[in-house]
Amino acid sequence: MTPTPAALGKDLVGLQYLSADQLRTILDTAEPFKEISERRIKKVPVLRGKTIVNLFFEASTRTRISFEFAEKRLSADTVNIVAAGSSISKGETLVDTARNLEAMRIDMVVMRHPASGAAQFLADRIPSNVVNAGDGRHEHPTQGLLDLLTIRDRMGRVEGLKVCIVGDILHSRVARSNIYGLLTLGAEVAVCGPPTLMPPAVQELGVQVFTRVEEAIEWSDVLNVLRLQLERMEAGYVPSLREYNRIWGVSNARLEAAKKDLLVLHPGPMNRGVEIDSDVADGPRSVILDQVTNGVAVRMAVLYLLAGGQPERAEAAKQGGGDA
Ligand code: CP
Repeated sequence: MTPTPAALGKDLVGLQYLSADQLRTILDTAEPFKEISERRIKKVPVLRGKTIVNLFFEASTRTRISFEFAEKRLSADTVNIVAAGSSISKGETLVDTARNLEAMRIDMVVMRHPASGAAQFLADRIPSNVVNAGDGRHEHPTQGLLDLLTIRDRMGRVEGLKVCIVGDILHSRVARSNIYGLLTLGAEVAVCGPPTLMPPAVQELGVQVFTRVEEAIEWSDVLNVLRLQLERMEAGYVPSLREYNRIWGVSNARLEAAKKDLLVLHPGPMNRGVEIDSDVADGPRSVILDQVTNGVAVRMAVLYLLAGGQPERAEAAKQGGGDA
């Protein structure tokens, strides 16, 4: 394979500093990888010989499992580490843990961590590629990418669309990655939620703010509904979950005022009956399970590109025509 400049740098820590070309390259690279998951034998030798550690300090279903599927479907060797079953629970530091993993000759670390900035901290200290699988309130870049891919699949474009992110913006790394990615690709972005769950000076990110969910719904082409992150709230952000649903919840009754083709996304896990009603989550506007399906292809694309794979070779690599 003729070496060309890497499409991504060493790490994927966030979407904030990726260019529109880099975002489009990841999404375009994910396209050919989608088909691998539809095969009877879901495996290609693209990452053969690579060793990837999935280091999860916080709970996860979708992200952890879809990274593992992406790695295994690309033939990487994978190891899963969760804090509770490792020496982290005995007080070992993040850097010591990573250095010990490096001593066993790994190639990449996929990490979820409760501290904002943990992914960059690790990326600056180890030579392996680091992929941020969610760090505190900072970013969740592969969630942002799979949301972009799902919107682009369904709407045919991202540029010019009106996308509103509704709910707990304050605690949400998904909101930040969505805002950065959507704005870079030319969407108009708004946020909507209780003032107590809105970051200070959120407008400075380049977004419009709606204070009423009804207004947000009427404005939007795409609604990305976020979970109330109860585990990150001490107390007092919302009067009660019932009240939250009554004022901010996305229900079919509220969607009667929406555009005919409005799409509803949710990154999961959902609090049904709180931020989203079941008749919306399971209804015809919902692309929530498409997001999950696209998550595997997006993560394959990210791993392939970080391993040095060339975007234009993804189709051939998928057919068994070479490693990354
Ligand atoms: N969307 C998301 O990050 O889900 P998990 O917490 O289950 O990984």
